[in-house]
Amino acid sequence: MHSKDRSRLSFKILYALRHPGRIASYARRRTRDAWLWMRSPDHVSYYRAVMRSDAARSSKAAVGSHTHESWLQIGQLQFDYAVSHGLKPQMRMLEIGCGNLRAGRLFIDYLEAGHYYGIDISPDILLAAQDTIAEYRLQAKLPHLALVGDLTFRFLPDAAFDFVHAHSVFSHSPIEVIDECLAHVGRVMAPGAFFDFTFDRTEGAEHQVLHEDFYYRTETLLALAARHGLTATYMADWEETGHPQSKIRVTLPAGEA
Ligand SMILES: C[S@@+](CC[C@H](N)C(=O)[O-])C[C@H]1O[C@@H](n2cnc3c(N)ncnc32)[C@H](O)[C@@H]1O
Repeated sequence: MHSKDRSRLSFKILYALRHPGRIASYARRRTRDAWLWMRSPDHVSYYRAVMRSDAARSSKAAVGSHTHESWLQIGQLQFDYAVSHGLKPQMRMLEIGCGNLRAGRLFIDYLEAGHYYGIDISPDILLAAQDTIAEYRLQAKLPHLALVGDLTFRFLPDAAFDFVHAHSVFSHSPIEVIDECLAHVGRVMAPGAFFDFTFDRTEGAEHQVLHEDFYYRTETLLALAARHGLTATYMADWEETGHPQSKIRVTLPAGEA
């Protein structure tokens, strides 16, 4: 499953033959991709436009959940894994690409008031995140939500966060965006902090589908983290959750941790 190259014509033809009902929706996505890409000066602007288009139809589908049940389930999965792997209520959390708080609502509820900080490039999904806070009555937890245009974290203080989380964000990011994140995230991580992110893993050639979906080899991301002086570990037990993406945990090197 992890060795397929979804960008190859042969993969697309076989896929279309197996799923003829999905051809029309793929054609629509492809047309939208070309149109938005042509009008966008960079990846972040492009993906912000994708989110605007998706969120206008359904904010849950925009974060990858086509049913309410799936939205609840994928949020719970992220939360349970983090708690069983070291997250504590007194920790301070930065969630990169927080979306409409599919998991964020559970983190906000669990953490002490003011300890959750969500950032996202999409104003539309951040408005949906506010709806989630209101719907789940989390106002008293004073969650922070901020719109960003890059992943330099330049407006955030040094060593501010014990837990950084990015679920299903690097699966939509070119390597330059991941590189920028890994170049700067260490500064905002407190001693002993951990940064967990998911990615679409391939064991074959790295590739992308449209300008939205990116498939990386584990070694590429481990090496990138190391180049920025971070220690990165592939989290093999995340695979047992059955989630289609893979997970890496990044920590500060010993001595700084
Ligand atoms: C598939 S959704 C996942 C949202 C959330 N993490 C979850 O699991 O429900 C990806 C989110 O990441 C955001 N995003 C994509 N690229 C980003 C970037 N470079 N910086 C910050 N947010 C980004 C998108 O706007 C979107 O809200």
